[in-house]
Amino acid sequence: MIIESIITTLNADGTAHIAPMGVTWRDGTPILAPFRPSTTLENLMRTGRAAINHTDDVRIFAGSLTGRANWPVRPAHKIEGAVLEAAISHEELIVDRVEQDELRPRFFCRIVHRATHAPFAGFNRAQAAVIEAAILVSRLHMLARDKIEREIAYLQIAVDKTAGPREREAWDWLVERIAAFHAGSDGRAAS
Ligand SMILES: Cc1cc2nc3c(=O)[nH]c(=O)nc-3n(C[C@H](O)[C@H](O)[C@H](O)COP(=O)(O)O)c2cc1C
Repeated sequence: MIIESIITTLNADGTAHIAPMGVTWRDGTPILAPFRPSTTLENLMRTGRAAINHTDDVRIFAGSLTGRANWPVRPAHKIEGAVLEAAISHEELIVDRVEQDELRPRFFCRIVHRATHAPFAGFNRAQAAVIEAAILVSRLHMLARDKIEREIAYLQIAVDKTAGPREREAWDWLVERIAAFHAGSDGRAAS
């Protein structure tokens, strides 16, 4: 099973790096699979530490992909690392083993601490729609424009029907990003 999460790692200067990633859970073992090149990959290789953050603030998923990466964090409990203030729960990890791969190495991790900070508030379709749109934004350079437009039009229905202010804000950031990308002179230049 894959759980869409926010991974926090530490940069060489001690600041936190925040990135949305799908974590594969296999028999209780979390597996992180960052593509090359990525800051998360470099940080994992250097520190062997990360935290998995579970949050319903989907602005963090959308924001991390649209240049809004400064989300509040606090120190982790058992590792040298950072945890999102907005985490409903989190796990702190030590990398046990790395399966090397030219495209996408896989980090098999051990949980050394886990904590719950707030109750699960329930499912919201707009949150799911924002996560789907964030995935589209992370693949803009690989996907055809008409596929993106069709999927956004469908996801928009859930946003219109069920979003709160945070979901609407996150959605607007993503839609702006897609428009800027397609307005770029060669279709990929805008940021
Ligand atoms: C829901 C979601 C899941 C993602 N999962 C992954 C993943 O498993 N591996 C990956 O390399 N990028 C994934 N991405 C894209 C990264 O978040 C994005 O490329 C980010 O910039 C990571 O690179 P960085 O560590 O250099 O910031 C995902 C994006 C979203 C929105």
